[in-house]
Parts: sequence; C-alpha cells; structure tokens
Amino acid sequence: MSVKSIAVLTSGGDSQGMNAAVRAVVRSAIVHNLEVYGIQRGYQGLLNDDIRKMDLRSVGDIIQRGGTILQTARCLEFQTEEGQKRGAENLRKRGIDSLVVIGGDGSYQGAYKLSKLGIRTMGLPGTIDNDIAYTDFTIGFDTAVSIVVDAVNKLRDTMTSHERSSVVEVMGRHCGDIALYSGLACGAETILVPEVPYELDEVAHRMKENFDNGKRHSIIIAAEGVGKCDDIAAYIHKVNGIEPRVTVLGHIQRGGTPTHNDRILASRLGDFAVRRLLAGDSGKACGVIRGELVATDFEKVVGTKKEFDIELYNLALRLSQ
Ligand code: ADP
Ligand code: F6P
Repeated sequence: MSVKSIAVLTSGGDSQGMNAAVRAVVRSAIVHNLEVYGIQRGYQGLLNDDIRKMDLRSVGDIIQRGGTILQTARCLEFQTEEGQKRGAENLRKRGIDSLVVIGGDGSYQGAYKLSKLGIRTMGLPGTIDNDIAYTDFTIGFDTAVSIVVDAVNKLRDTMTSHERSSVVEVMGRHCGDIALYSGLACGAETILVPEVPYELDEVAHRMKENFDNGKRHSIIIAAEGVGKCDDIAAYIHKVNGIEPRVTVLGHIQRGGTPTHNDRILASRLGDFAVRRLLAGDSGKACGVIRGELVATDFEKVVGTKKEFDIELYNLALRLSQ
C-alpha cells in the first residue's frame, strides 16, 4: 500500500528546531505530492481530533522560531490502550495512513504503539536533553547548550570581579549531556552529571586549592539529575568556607531562536522521515550518527539509555585545572 497522506505532531517538552522539523516534513511531503496534516497539541490533539490540513504557506516564517507552531502537550489518556486505538481510528477516518512524531522517548513510545496498530510512523528526536539512543544529537540540544554557554559567559564577568564561585543548574532530566557539553565549552572547573559518581568533599577541596593558587572564579555546572543545587552549594560552603551563588537556568534553555546546527539537523531529519515512509519504512526513529542519517526500529530505541561520552568528560576534567 503506498503512502497517500501524512500527519505530523510535536509532543513532550518542546525544543528549538521543532518548527524547522515540522516545516521539513510538510514541505517534503508536498514535494512528493502527498497530503499533509498538522495535529495540534501532540497526542492530546490526536484524541480530540484537532487536525488540520497544511500547505506550503502553513509553515512559512517558522524556521527561525523556537517553540512549536503545532504546540505540544503531555497526554495521560494516550498511554492507555483505548486511547491509542482511538488515536489510530481518528487518523484512519481522515484517510491518514502515516504519522511523523517529533518528541522524546515518551513520545516515541506512543508512536511505537501506533505503528503496532497499523499506522506507519516515524519518530524525530525533538528534545533539548540529547537523551535519545541511536542518534548522536537531538533537535534542540545545540541551541540549549549555546544558551547555557552564553549565560555562563555573563556569570563569569561578575564572578571574576568578586572572586566568587557559581553553581549553575542545567536541564537534561536523567541525562548529563547539556552539563557535559556546556561545561566543556565554558571551561567549567567541575561538571556534575548523573552518569558519573562524584565526591562533593573533593569538589570543595579542589575549589579552595584553585582559589589559593590564584584562580579568580570557579564554575560548577550541575545537571538537574544530580540533585538540588542549593544543597550542593550549602555543602561546599560547609566544607571549604566559600559560599557559591546558585543559578538555575530552567526553561530559558528551551526557548529562543534555534542555532543553524539545529535547523539543519531538523531539516535533514524531517525530509528523511518522509522519504523513509515513501520507501515503505515504519516503526522507526530517525537520527544522525557520525553525520549519516539512520532509521532504527523503535523497539531498539525506546527505553534505551544513550551512552555517555566519558572521554569528553575526562577531557573536560583534564583541562579544568
Ligand atoms: P518526551 O517525549 O519528551 O519524553 P513525555 O515522556 O512527557 O515526553 O511523553 C510525551 C507523551 O508521549 C506523553 O504525554 C504521552 O502522551 C505519550 N507517552 C509517553 N509514554 C507513553 C507510553 N508508554 N505509551 C504511549 N504513549 C506514551
Ligand atoms: O525533557 C525536556 C525537559 O526540559 C527536561 O530537561 C526537564 O527535566 C523537563 O523537560 C521539564 O519539564 P516541564 O517542562 O514539564 O517543566
């Protein structure tokens, strides 16, 4: 059976570049003479039948925008078998045979279930966390890291003036990649991630030693997955007498204009997903590994922990004397 009609939705936490991905899916589908539909608010919109036809102009002027024009939601009802069946039915009754889901691991689980119900599905990794296996990078990660780097540059100015320490909490849920990449790029003294055990006493002693040896500031980047930064700062203060200031960057990391890397990644992946569907693929997550576009079975991807780049972590540590 050939593909006639594709729908696209964004789901889970939004990320910069989701719009570029929606644009790529819509335009690539139209180029291939397919009908294309946008589903509003992720799986919630699928259940509410909040589905509209898209044309070339529906995705004009969005490649540079953060957020998602399709909006996103977290939908508990879709986690039930009944919800998934209703979702598949809502697509079928409009003659939609294929679906591109842009989101994280949870969204992929939903897409996997729909593929088992006979809807042809492809997933695109849309999350700032970079926590999806079988892709080197997710859409939004590059932008989130640049936002952290920009913020830490600013913090550095005031820290150096006052010879202070800062603990900066970054997002990533259970994944330390935002902390790792931004930490390396900022020259952070310490990077705390859930993937690598650490001793706070050691961190505190090293900080004191570095200040004694002429360092004029100290930056600790902590992934949210390691715990509360206020507690980390309080502990360090107790051990070495230095009182770090705490900055929680929060949702600022998820907004703003996507970097060119995220726009290009999103454009390549969106077009690839459509081409894979046309070639008869389904039930797969699209990604990029060492620059090559790949499509991997959802079965392998969902619930799989992405490998942490320990070499990059060790490099950051070596350079942060
Ligand atoms: P992300 O996709 O960023 O990981 P969530 O984990 O919140 O974000 O998942 C997004 C949505 O995907 C959920 O609100 C739900 O509708 C759907 N989803 C998550 N897990 C499942 C599951 N096991 N089965 C079906 N749908 C799921
Ligand atoms: O998955 C993206 C993410 O921003 C995580 O980094 C963070 O833990 C979570 O979403 C925050 O979720 P919410 O937007 O519901 O506060």
